[in-house]
Amino acid sequence: FLIFVLVCAEAFNPDEEDDDMESRIIHPKTDDQRNRLQEACRDILLFKNLDPEQMSQVLDAMFEKLVEGGEHVIDQGGDGDNFYVIDRGTYDIYVRCDGIGRCVGNYDNRGSFGELALMYNTPRAATIIATSPGAVWGLVSEIYLKCLKMYSSTYRYLKLQKLVDVIGTKIYKDGEQIIAQGDMADCFFIVESGEVRITMKRKGKQDVEDNGAVEIARYSRGQYFGELALVTNKPRAASAFALGTVKCLVMDVQAFERLLGPCMEIMKRNIANYEEQLVALFGTNMDIADPTA
Ligand code: CMP
Ligand code: CMP
Repeated sequence: FLIFVLVCAEAFNPDEEDDDMESRIIHPKTDDQRNRLQEACRDILLFKNLDPEQMSQVLDAMFEKLVEGGEHVIDQGGDGDNFYVIDRGTYDIYVRCDGIGRCVGNYDNRGSFGELALMYNTPRAATIIATSPGAVWGLVSEIYLKCLKMYSSTYRYLKLQKLVDVIGTKIYKDGEQIIAQGDMADCFFIVESGEVRITMKRKGKQDVEDNGAVEIARYSRGQYFGELALVTNKPRAASAFALGTVKCLVMDVQAFERLLGPCMEIMKRNIANYEEQLVALFGTNMDIADPTA
């Protein structure tokens, strides 16, 4: 999974995405209209990552719709056609549930609405009624969805970039020790190339050093190790050595917790596999996960 993420991060460049607005739609505007539109769109998150040319195309495609007090701009249950940005005016939001319509909120001269039906391809989820004369800017769903696609690919790229930024690489010579059993842990490793040998010394009544080390695993490209001590807050359960030249991606403990938090459960589940393996090898689970040991 991690290698997949890293390869994607390296290969993916949002600038290379198909970022053309395709069919260019132009609704001519006066200077005053264009200024008002620009002001209304300033805080729309979706438009924030567009470059000036793309933004200009979006503004060209938007059209002004004047509304009267009492007018329904959107009806719940209808098809999604446009996304709307408020230019001016006040609007109530009604949601009908079990046949009863209830006002659930309102907009006061700013904001936007009508994105849900476009994003999820569902019927309109609410009715929007103007409570004063006003104006909204409409954007057809085709262009709205294009912006959404560009926004999510940029967002994805930034997240991947963040991951790449906190990962360092280290090269180990043949036989070099990467992790020492019993040491305190401060990082996590992913094998980028070469092979890593994991060995463990049986924990006996006598000094651990008296017992010979047994090879318990080998890891190659795409596999990770050194997570156990970070997950259990215990010293390193085993040692790791380079077999031939090894290149590892290394992530410090803070980055590990922050970025791989969502993978923590998967890693915890793996502890049971380790324990099973140790019971088979040593006749005991070596207390690798027991914090009181
Ligand atoms: P959409 O479903 O396309 O059309 C109605 C819009 O009302 C919806 O998108 C939202 O933008 C907006 N809205 C605001 N509040 C709510 C709400 N509580 N439930 C559903 N839609 C809401
Ligand atoms: P950690 O304890 O941080 O450092 C040694 C690593 O060896 C450990 O994390 C695991 O990633 C890895 N390892 C592989 N097999 C086992 C096992 N059976 N028991 C414990 N650790 C193992």
